[in-house]
Amino acid sequence: MIWFQRKQARQALHLAVVLVGVLAFALVSASTAFAQPQTPPSALNPKGINSAEIAALFNTVLIIAAVVFVIVEGLLVFSAFRFRKSKKDVSEPKQIHGNTRLEIAWTILPALIVVSLFVMALQTQQKLATKPGDAITVKVIGHQWWWEFQYPDYNITTATDLVIPAGETVNLEITSNDVIHSFWVPQLNGKTDAFPNHINTSWIKADQPGTFLGQCAELCGPSHANMRLVVIAKDRAGFDQWVKEQQAPPVEVTGDAAQGQQVFLTGACIGCHTINGTAANGQVGPNLTHFGSRTGIGGDTLPNTPGNLKRWLANPPGIKPGSIMPNLNLSSSDVDLLTAYLEALK
Ligand code: CUA
Repeated sequence: MIWFQRKQARQALHLAVVLVGVLAFALVSASTAFAQPQTPPSALNPKGINSAEIAALFNTVLIIAAVVFVIVEGLLVFSAFRFRKSKKDVSEPKQIHGNTRLEIAWTILPALIVVSLFVMALQTQQKLATKPGDAITVKVIGHQWWWEFQYPDYNITTATDLVIPAGETVNLEITSNDVIHSFWVPQLNGKTDAFPNHINTSWIKADQPGTFLGQCAELCGPSHANMRLVVIAKDRAGFDQWVKEQQAPPVEVTGDAAQGQQVFLTGACIGCHTINGTAANGQVGPNLTHFGSRTGIGGDTLPNTPGNLKRWLANPPGIKPGSIMPNLNLSSSDVDLLTAYLEALK
């Protein structure tokens, strides 16, 4: 009888050890998978100091949670096997109730853990709120379904590509033109909501030059998923060069592009779009003054190539459901001419 119980206990212990080992292995492999560089923009692959703080807090919380999980589940599984009903011994087990010392311990310990998590979160918040050094300011305006970027210091208005100097603090003044959006570039910072008639401030600082994908993170209509952006961090010289190019008036166009300009200026386009230095000064859609220099079309739904631009112009809502830009039923020759013009606007 005693031998039998010992054997059972040994088996239960073995099982518990194996289970704890499997759990620990799963958690460790999951955490190393998270830490690897990934192609999708991951908040756990930070490229700026804000995201690095957030990822560090996440990893600390994950480790604490993993330890708690393994201990609690390990004890639970062990107890279930060790004290399960025996086939031979059907008598009622010894009835016990309460253990004051144990209960005090398992109340105080979790309370201490929760308080330390709270303090760590406060510290991270404090760090995220502390803006280092001088900053350039960009006004970020959410629209259904694209992001507008205004640089008041440089008198530049653009869309989809947020070009910033790497290694420098960039102030963001975030607002919305219509519904609530949320500005999120996971590798650079957490989310900041974009409300109409209200400015939320945030800041980003990219460690190195690079390209970082962003995404609207608040359900805002049928093309919420197509409301993307790209942060392009350049070195100082590259950023200054970009500023110079964006401040320049649009290029003089010739040939097909010049014909395309006529189509643009005499058609519906100017009702919604601005091109500096022309009669087009619509305010509904993106400013297209240097459209040809951008990476994406239609809120970064498609990469900016002539072929994609033709698809877009032929039927915007077909590319981006719900698109405010309607299908203008342009002839295919007008689509070709407009494409030649817009792609020339470097
Ligand atoms: Cu804007 Cu979702």
